[in-house]
Amino acid sequence: MVESQPHQVRDKFNRPIRDLRISVTDRCNFRCVYCMPREVFGPGYAFVPRSELLRLEEIHRVARIFVQEGVTKIRITGGEPLIRRDLEQLIEMISGIDGIRDLSMTTNASMLTLERARSLYGAGLARINISLDALDQETFQEINDVKFPVSDVLSGIDNALATGFSNVKINSVIRKGSNDHSILDLARHFRGSGATLRFIEFMDVGSTNQWQREQVMPASKMIDIIKTEFPIAPVSPNYEGEVAKRWRYLDGSGEIGFITSVTQPFCRDCSRARISAVGKIYTCLFASNGHDLKDLIREGASDAVLARFVREIWSNRIDRYSELRSDASLTRDSAARIEMSYIGG
Ligand code: GTP
Ligand code: 5AD
Ligand code: SF4
Ligand code: SF4
Repeated sequence: MVESQPHQVRDKFNRPIRDLRISVTDRCNFRCVYCMPREVFGPGYAFVPRSELLRLEEIHRVARIFVQEGVTKIRITGGEPLIRRDLEQLIEMISGIDGIRDLSMTTNASMLTLERARSLYGAGLARINISLDALDQETFQEINDVKFPVSDVLSGIDNALATGFSNVKINSVIRKGSNDHSILDLARHFRGSGATLRFIEFMDVGSTNQWQREQVMPASKMIDIIKTEFPIAPVSPNYEGEVAKRWRYLDGSGEIGFITSVTQPFCRDCSRARISAVGKIYTCLFASNGHDLKDLIREGASDAVLARFVREIWSNRIDRYSELRSDASLTRDSAARIEMSYIGG
């Protein structure tokens, strides 16, 4: 058994390491225009070959080492994580690590049948966040770009709710001129549904999504739009470093959240490490380079060596990309960065 948190490694800004986001695949069955545009992620795109992916035992080992270094919260991401073979087995392995308080997954729910939801839950997954950017078929299909029907995602959400996952969240990335007309539709639909809706400001992640400042709708504007129909008021965060700003409907019909990475960055409390499907550690969503753990693992490094490697990386961490970006008047720099689908958001 792993001894949990014998010491707490801190970065250069005194931020501990608490969350680990594990990407289990760089593939996705959607081609969301702002994430995996088909001109780039087309038939000729070189996805990671299977032999390069961390194997289940390797992912489990990495997770165990991060937990030993202070991580208590783990999120499985992709691409689309439900594509990964033997995902339930992996979840079972990870959920058995002593010291994890929260095990969750972010998915597009396109493959979340009731049977699948139950097997994930049975394996120890506690929470699910589901991406859904519009309710009308035309807008949703324009965004996913594979003609995927919105009704199937709504069924996936129902399946998550019916299975008993706690605090199911819906993530909606809002882009001006694309789906800003969906804000009220989504709020009406999910208010009182048991799922918490969160609107996300469109971020300049990666290098291929054609991000433009003009497409970002600030959360303050989204809040104004919601207030035209529903009175809402802010709620204090659940914990330090929570990504979404929480608001509640004054009529008691639940909460709604806003993820304001562009207009109100939250780097100050950022305790998230990310690991790509090929075993590279990234200390920021906007990083250009990762630190290769897989080579070390495959060269036969001991747990102690891997733990030292993680501590070394974290203790030198200075990332605060979103804060720096806002200091630079929201202009975009030109450095090539990892893609959202590669690192899982
Ligand atoms: P909860 O634990 O349920 O609050 O999940 P989460 O919001 O941390 O994770 P999720 O995968 O649902 O992410 C929602 C959105 O927040 C995505 O667009 C992520 O890319 C974004 N996000 C999550 N963590 C960070 C972060 O550290 N920095 C930035 N800039 N965005 C983040
Ligand atoms: N900006 C904000 N959120 C994004 N996501 C994907 N690309 C972006 C972007 N450029 C969201 C997905 C998913 C989560 C992991 O990240 O919609 O909900
Ligand atoms: Fe869309 Fe998520 Fe797939 Fe990206 S990873 S293409 S946002 S479903
Ligand atoms: Fe953390 Fe980087 Fe996001 Fe800031 S921009 S909150 S440092 S991941």
